[in-house]
Amino acid sequence: MAKLSKQQFNCKESQVTDEKIYQQRRQLLKKLGYVGAAGLLAPYAGLSMANGKESNEFSLRELAFSKTNKASISEKLTPESKVTTHNNFYEFGAQKHQPAELAQKFKVNPWQLKISGEVERQLTLGYDDLFSRFDIEERIYRLRCVEAWSMVVPWLGFQLSDLIKLAQPTSKAKYVKFKTLYDPKQMPGQANHYLGGGIKYPYQEGLRMDEAMNPLTIMAVGLYGKTLPPQNGAPIRLVLPWKYGFKSIKSIVEIEFTEQQPATTWSKLAPKEYGFYANVNPNVDHPRWSQKSERRITSGGLFSRNRIDTQMFNGYGEQVAQMYQSMDLAKYY
Ligand code: MTE
Repeated sequence: MAKLSKQQFNCKESQVTDEKIYQQRRQLLKKLGYVGAAGLLAPYAGLSMANGKESNEFSLRELAFSKTNKASISEKLTPESKVTTHNNFYEFGAQKHQPAELAQKFKVNPWQLKISGEVERQLTLGYDDLFSRFDIEERIYRLRCVEAWSMVVPWLGFQLSDLIKLAQPTSKAKYVKFKTLYDPKQMPGQANHYLGGGIKYPYQEGLRMDEAMNPLTIMAVGLYGKTLPPQNGAPIRLVLPWKYGFKSIKSIVEIEFTEQQPATTWSKLAPKEYGFYANVNPNVDHPRWSQKSERRITSGGLFSRNRIDTQMFNGYGEQVAQMYQSMDLAKYY
């Protein structure tokens, strides 16, 4: 194992909203009748930090959003401290604790997200566009990793369909391809084969057009009321709650509309283990482990096991099952 310099997780106490405070705010907003109400802006404004100081280190910023969804709201949120320290972001190391340690100097502003390929309007979105061009809402979703652990995360983001409508895909556009930033100077896992888990970078993902247009599919720009920390895919990532987490590609710089199904990072690396579709499915095991159950990550320590049954499509069948009606999901895993 290559020796890593142990950097501290640089988020200052004042920059981090404890999930208890977050929950209290949520309760308060609920009492006031705000949660779920459209048109609400900046529900957290004035309640905490916003750090505008120039610095090499990443600073989190509060985000305004218009509404929050009700789905899965009854499930306990995974503590913010776990969401931001137990990560898969191989560009910053293949171990769960490494992204939070190694990504803190990651520069996300300026940023360019290019939209190209089979579209009427090619677009380039800058950093500020990511937060101002679309209607940002809160979506509380389950996140199920193919490794059989899961979380419940309050994301902030906009529907990918809104961006797609803006780009106006042509009739040839059948798939959407996504690419993560390639910058080995900033991303040590791209510079060091071993640290980066043997992946051929840039990390790449893809969706069928109907999956990309599904209202559940969001481009996330925040979590827990603030901008995304770098380890969670700042400044913008995909979130697909009915698919295994590896489809939810982070720190996206390119979206391309294609006629052919794009190659994807994990299915290229191990095609027998990871497919293009990667729908959460308790009836199709990974070749090396069962997918029937998962470990829900909570605030508890080692002894709180929290093993729960995995649900078909991670519990989102009502919204997505019709897209796969005629498909053999054991074949198209
Ligand atoms: N995106 C990139 N670019 N690189 C990665 O290594 N890991 C994926 C996905 N997106 C990954 C990525 C995997 S395996 C999972 S489970 C989720 O990100 C984890 O997201 P989280 O760290 O925010 O929980």
